[in-house]
Amino acid sequence: MEPSITKVNWQELIGKAWEKREPLWKDASVDCFRVFHGYEEGSTGTVIEKFNDAAVIDYKTDIRADLPELAQALLKVFPFKNIIAKGHQSLGLSLKERTNILHGNDTRVICHEQALKFKVNLDSPHNPGLYLDARDARAWLCDNSSDRRILNLFAFTGSLGLSSAYGKAAEVIHLDRSKELLPRIQENYQINNLEFEMRNFLRGDIYKHLPRAIKAGKKFDGIILDPPPKIYQSPYAKHKTNGQDFSALIQLCSQLLNPGGWVLGMLHRFDYSWDDFEDQVTEASGQLLLPQSRLTSGIDFPESMPDKKLRVSIFATPNTPIDER
Ligand SMILES: C[S@@+](CC[C@H](N)C(=O)[O-])C[C@H]1O[C@@H](n2cnc3c(N)ncnc32)[C@H](O)[C@@H]1O
Repeated sequence: MEPSITKVNWQELIGKAWEKREPLWKDASVDCFRVFHGYEEGSTGTVIEKFNDAAVIDYKTDIRADLPELAQALLKVFPFKNIIAKGHQSLGLSLKERTNILHGNDTRVICHEQALKFKVNLDSPHNPGLYLDARDARAWLCDNSSDRRILNLFAFTGSLGLSSAYGKAAEVIHLDRSKELLPRIQENYQINNLEFEMRNFLRGDIYKHLPRAIKAGKKFDGIILDPPPKIYQSPYAKHKTNGQDFSALIQLCSQLLNPGGWVLGMLHRFDYSWDDFEDQVTEASGQLLLPQSRLTSGIDFPESMPDKKLRVSIFATPNTPIDER
């Protein structure tokens, strides 16, 4: 006999998840958040995110047959103008088969988070352009960047560095190896009426640029370090890169920091505890960087296991250079 497959009641699941997010949809300053985190809310493999009036459904288990019903459930809680579903590449389907436009025709949307605007590409095969779990990290950067020179490593669409720029940073340099990101960063600056010049973007491999910057004597007062969960081996790295490669990256970043500077580090791996991560950073910096505070994702990312949540640590350096202490 075929195993019985329990039918998901999307209307019930989405209705419950929406209720839990009341503080978010009641907050007029935020129109982007995770609407449904299936891993904890009843359908493993499915997450749904809201960007202004658009919903993006990401599925890792094949729920294509359920998509019309799911779209209806979403329209019951919010008058979405656009709903798009994207299947994960691990499903073995072609891009066309796993990209499903369920409602509306727009693929570009501007969303709002506090005073900032971000442009997202709904049909991008990966993240649309804004990591919603980093909301509190962006708020921290807005509040702690004034008059500082900031280096935003692994910049992607620039949202973290842009938060520093909005927070009156003296200068923000974004670094990413992908050249397609430059126009997206530029556009995000433009829609926020923030000035951007070509020197604000360094394109290339981090293991090429950081040693060069150290050699050239460059210094920063804040470094944003958000490596992907797995950094691929770089021809410029003299060592074998490992996971997020914090040890090697922190050794480089420590040499680029002015006294009184901070590093904001984001841990995305589940094989480290938060304490282990902070110890690793302190050790790799030669005791220069000490953990100062912690941030995590919001109520829209419910997790019963704390180590499954995004973990962000702020590390601070002493105000005096280490060799003068
Ligand atoms: C997860 S995204 C970072 C997200 C970003 N911090 C944000 O909050 O929007 C990872 C980025 O790292 C970049 N990247 C990966 N390996 C790199 C390397 N070796 N050198 C420079 N950039 C790299 C990718 O191009 C991608 O844009």
